[in-house]
Amino acid sequence: MANSKYEYVKSFEAQDKIMLPNLIVARIDGRNFRSFSQIHQFEKPNDGRALKLMKACAAALMEEYPDIVFSYGFSDEYSFIFKKDSKFYQRRESKILSLLVSFFTAVYTMKWKEFFPQQDLLCVPSFRAQVISCPTLEVLQTYLAWRQNNCHLNNQFDTCFWKLVESGKNESEAHEILKGTQKQERNELLFQQFGINYKNIHPMFRQGTCLFKAQVEDVIKYKENGDPVKRLRRKVMKDRSENIASKNFWSQHPSLVKELGSFDEDIHKIRPEYVESFHFMDKLLPSTWIVVRVDGCHFHSSCC
Ligand code: GTP
Ligand code: MG
Repeated sequence: MANSKYEYVKSFEAQDKIMLPNLIVARIDGRNFRSFSQIHQFEKPNDGRALKLMKACAAALMEEYPDIVFSYGFSDEYSFIFKKDSKFYQRRESKILSLLVSFFTAVYTMKWKEFFPQQDLLCVPSFRAQVISCPTLEVLQTYLAWRQNNCHLNNQFDTCFWKLVESGKNESEAHEILKGTQKQERNELLFQQFGINYKNIHPMFRQGTCLFKAQVEDVIKYKENGDPVKRLRRKVMKDRSENIASKNFWSQHPSLVKELGSFDEDIHKIRPEYVESFHFMDKLLPSTWIVVRVDGCHFHSSCC
C-alpha cells in the first residue's frame, strides 16, 4: 500500500499516539472468565494454577517486549507499564493493545497444558485490553494502589463468599450476608465463623504478583577446566508486597527507579478523580461505521 494510489487509506486510521510525558499502562483482562473458570473447574476462590499461568504469560510478554519494565496482576488481569521514554510502535494505542492482547492470548493457549495437565482447554480464552495514560508518577502510583486495593477487596469478598457456600448457604444467601459489609467485618466473619486469619492467606491471593526486570548473572557455559562462563542479562523476576505503590517497595527495585523515576512520598488516599480517568475509554459516536483490520505482526520472520 505504501507509495501506491491507495496510500490515502492510511488517513482512515485514527490518530491515537499517547503523547509524552504520559506513562503508558496497558491492562489486559480475561473476557467472561467467570464462565471460563467454571467450565475449567478452577478452584474457588483462587486457583494457583490459573494465577501461575497468567504470570507465565505476563513474563513471556515482558521478555518479548523489552520496553515493558513492570507488570502487576491478579485474578484474570495484568497491567503492564512501559518505560517512560518508550517509542514502542510510535506509542500508538491501537498497535500496543492489539500486539499485547494477541501475544498474551496466544501464550495462554500455548502454555495451558503446562499448568493444567489434567484439564483440556474446552473453550477459547479471550482477553481485552485498555491503555491508561498516566501524566505523572503520582497518577501511576494511584493506579497501582487502586488495582491492588481491588485485588484485596475481591479476594476478601470471594474468600468469605465461598466459605459461606461451603458451610451450606446457597449463593444468594451468601450474597445477602455480605451485602454492605466492610473490610473489618469480613475479616471478623472469616475469623469468628471459619477460624481463618485473613493475613495468613497466601500472599499470591491477597497481594497479587509483580514482575520487573533485574540484571542477573547467568552461567552460559563451562570452560574445559570446569570454570563457569558468566554473562549479565536482564531477567524477569517476581516480587510481592502488601503495598506495591509504596515508596519503600519501589525504591527496592533500581530498574523501576531508573526507567520510571522514584515516588516522592506514599499516598494515603486513592483520589477518585484519578480513578475516574482510568475508566475513560474512547467511544465511537453512534452511526459510525466500525471496521477492524487484523494484520499479522512479523509474519515474514522465520523464528518466534
Ligand atoms: P469481564 O471481564 O467483564 O468479561 O467479566 P469476567 O467474567 O471476566 O469477570 P471479572 O473480570 O470481573 O472477574 C474475573 C472473574 O474470573 C472472577 O469473578 C472469577 O469468577 C473468575 N476467576 C478468576 N480467577 C479465578 C480463580 O482463580 N478461581 C476461580 N474460581 N475463579 C476465578
Ligand atoms: Mg475479566
